[in-house]
Amino acid sequence: MFSNQKMSRNFICTLKYYNVTLWPRLVKNVNGMYIFTGISGVMFTCVKKTDLILIHSNKLNLTLFKGHHAKLTGQSGVTAPAIKTTWFQTEKQYLVIQLEGKLKPGKSYWLYTEFTGELADDLEGFYRSEYMEDGEKKIIAITQMQATYARKAFPCFDEPGMKAVFHITLIHDLETTALSNSQEITVFVFHAVIPSTAIITRTIFGPTKKMSTYLVAFVVSDFKYISAKDKKGVLVRIWARKKAIEDGQGDYALKITQPILEFFEKYYNTSYPLSKSDQIALPDFNSGAMENWGLVTYRETALLYDPRTSANGNKQRIATVVSHELAHMWFGNLVTLKWWNDLWLNEGFASYVEYLGADYAEPNWNMKDQTILYDLQRAFAVDSLTSSHPLSRKKEEVNTPSEISEMFSTISYSKGAAVLKMLSEFLTEPVFAKGLGNYLKQFAFGSSVHSDLWDHLQKAVDQTPGVKLPYSVHEIMNRWILQMGFPVITIDTRTGNVSQKHFLLEPDAVVDRKSEYNYEWFVPIKWMKKHQVQDQLWLLQKSALHKPMKVSKDEWVLANLHVSGYFRVNYDLGNWERLLSQLESDHQVIPVVNRAQILDDAFNLARASIINITLALRTTKYLLHEREYIPWEAALRNLNYFFQLFDRSEVYGAMQAYLKKQVKPLFEYFGIISSNWTTVASGHTDQFTQIIALSLACSTGVEGCRELTRSWFKKWMQNPHNNTIHPNLRSTVYCDAIAAGGTEEWNFGWQMFQKATVAAEAVKLRSALACTKVPWLLNRYLEYTMNPEKIRKQDATSTIGYIASNIIGQPLAWDFVRANWDYFFKLYGTGSFTFSRLISDVTYRFCTPFELSQLKRFQKDNAETGFGSGTQALQQAIEKTTAKIKWLAENKEPVLQWFLSESP
Ligand code: BES
Ligand code: ZN
Repeated sequence: MFSNQKMSRNFICTLKYYNVTLWPRLVKNVNGMYIFTGISGVMFTCVKKTDLILIHSNKLNLTLFKGHHAKLTGQSGVTAPAIKTTWFQTEKQYLVIQLEGKLKPGKSYWLYTEFTGELADDLEGFYRSEYMEDGEKKIIAITQMQATYARKAFPCFDEPGMKAVFHITLIHDLETTALSNSQEITVFVFHAVIPSTAIITRTIFGPTKKMSTYLVAFVVSDFKYISAKDKKGVLVRIWARKKAIEDGQGDYALKITQPILEFFEKYYNTSYPLSKSDQIALPDFNSGAMENWGLVTYRETALLYDPRTSANGNKQRIATVVSHELAHMWFGNLVTLKWWNDLWLNEGFASYVEYLGADYAEPNWNMKDQTILYDLQRAFAVDSLTSSHPLSRKKEEVNTPSEISEMFSTISYSKGAAVLKMLSEFLTEPVFAKGLGNYLKQFAFGSSVHSDLWDHLQKAVDQTPGVKLPYSVHEIMNRWILQMGFPVITIDTRTGNVSQKHFLLEPDAVVDRKSEYNYEWFVPIKWMKKHQVQDQLWLLQKSALHKPMKVSKDEWVLANLHVSGYFRVNYDLGNWERLLSQLESDHQVIPVVNRAQILDDAFNLARASIINITLALRTTKYLLHEREYIPWEAALRNLNYFFQLFDRSEVYGAMQAYLKKQVKPLFEYFGIISSNWTTVASGHTDQFTQIIALSLACSTGVEGCRELTRSWFKKWMQNPHNNTIHPNLRSTVYCDAIAAGGTEEWNFGWQMFQKATVAAEAVKLRSALACTKVPWLLNRYLEYTMNPEKIRKQDATSTIGYIASNIIGQPLAWDFVRANWDYFFKLYGTGSFTFSRLISDVTYRFCTPFELSQLKRFQKDNAETGFGSGTQALQQAIEKTTAKIKWLAENKEPVLQWFLSESP
């Protein structure tokens, strides 16, 4: 009846406030269902004359008033037009209200609804979570609104730009506590009407600040908390299951929250905008964490830390997730991007500054350097495909819930972070922070678009003598955010010629997507010569001569110093040789992140057939002397990729032999400093390296390694109440022992998994159970992922992913996903990352023509059901597999020869 355009743009109003009262029932009703009931009203002022109101509502059963789904009344003496009809536009999730007459501009109206909804276990909107405590099943009611689920909790104008004040009231049982964005102001007890014997509590929360619907949150639970007040009187509380709090699992999060808030107040030059900060760990939660304003929700593994059983990697995860979500309290919550097409700026920004906040709380962790592993290199991996997309999308391209959820991609997060880091570094951090602070001041409690940030950064540049840019912030940044991909910079040190080219993993790939900038970028190049840091260079054309880069035979050039730029670097062969010999003679002359980047660039240039694969392989020779985490991790990832390609071929043996030789000194080194593996290294990232040493040594068969890990596991099996395996090493040890063992080891692991009371420990076991080589165990484990009593819904896709990373499990997982596609699609069809992760995980190992044809067939067979938020992931899988097939045909032989020549 209405065109799409009209459906979304007709209703124009400014919102004032909502009054929302909700009552979740934590016991089943007579029909065996969990439900919630609610009443909600919204006050708005009409801007344009209209006789049509569009308000979001999804899966709610609305009460009829005189045959209509809502009531409308005018304010201050204005009479509202009568409602003519109401109906649901299900595709866009609107309740449409057609009026008899027109709403008047400038006048205010009150739109009221009453409704019932299901409190399902679907991880969306207002939903329920279950857990066991002392043999008793507990139910709690919680929310996840981002991106489009607030409309499933109460009817609302569910767009990030439509901010309002929320007055929230929750009705709940006496023995439970209710939480929401604001502080509770009154709690009183009354008798329920039905059943009249029940005594019920009503918790009324103070009005929120003006905010978006996707940041609204409610919780009703019997959780406990620990708390502290910061210097300015802000109340900080950490909430979790009673047992977890009593166990001290919330202590670490409480300890770091204050310094992190303090850091961001300084960094943004703006006080924390609210009077309290609650953070809560939930047993069932789809993503990692959610930045609801004042009530941040987390998966248990992202908030709870148990010093006795959690690894230092688990601790780091908590520090970065807390920092990420708290960063959003300003960037995202105080100032909100108007529409989801700019999501990259919200998530990319938080993903960048999470390292700054975590670094402030944990200064000895070398957090800032780790961004290159977790953002830059992750982004490069997908942004080098023709199926990539620009960071920024047109508003018109992002409409439906699944288009919106597809925005939560690696590109938005990791490329967003990497590009913003580059921007901050070429502006310098004080200039970046100054522009940022002014942007937050101007748009506080309002909404913006990405160019508003560029405006403020440009002003800060203009006001700072000494900072000179070749072009405006807009012009420079547009090239990075409006075109997909990134350049490879080639430096010819014989001539000083510097040039750029769009980097593509598949050399012959055709780029269908046009770019008005022709896939050229304005590239800030920080660089050094042997021993000396040089002035930054801006490459503004396709190629340019830069004389200082012409060097003599005993010098070398290293570009993208400290890896602050979002680009790869290639050199003439002579310079590569000189860099390699520098690495072998004294690698410390080259900064640690650059050592990692040389490795990652070389491997990827080789995968794109730009340099020889043997040159890339040679970058791993110096690892004999390397003791630092970041280069080892970069090496491991690239070598793992090789394992995936070759572990079904004759290259495997030779590769194992070479790696065994390379890792042996590292294994021995840690053996010595850990008194024969009885303790762990003292440095934080050294502990990560120690884990790499153990797992690589065991997997390549270094003498003494497997004996160690298997004896530790056996000891635990003999005495299940006393696990003496160091928490850092558990993932590796469990996996190795279960892979080597049979049913007995698996069953033991499964029992321990079910008994685990610390979520981080449960994850270690859940992933290790996927390491078994016994097919029927793997198949049964796959079946368990469809049974929420065995594997929680939140963990189903990652469990399948773990199984798919096992060489035996891969084909089983692929068959399983294909056979149950409809089921998964229904479960996760519109939902976030998890779904696209599922596709990329089960196809990760694909590298044969047969596998490619299976992929294409799968695409065809399910064209009708579709792939929802996994559409992109499927395209990426096809493109990656195609590239691997080609590459293997040309490179398998030289790789084999090289490994043979380098093995002992
Ligand atoms: N806003 C997101 C949570 C989210 C993700 C909501 C996808 C809806 C769909 C939150 O700020 C976030 O980014 N969480 C991350 C963790 C973070 C440390 C990268 C997550 O959930 O993985
Ligand atoms: Zn985020």
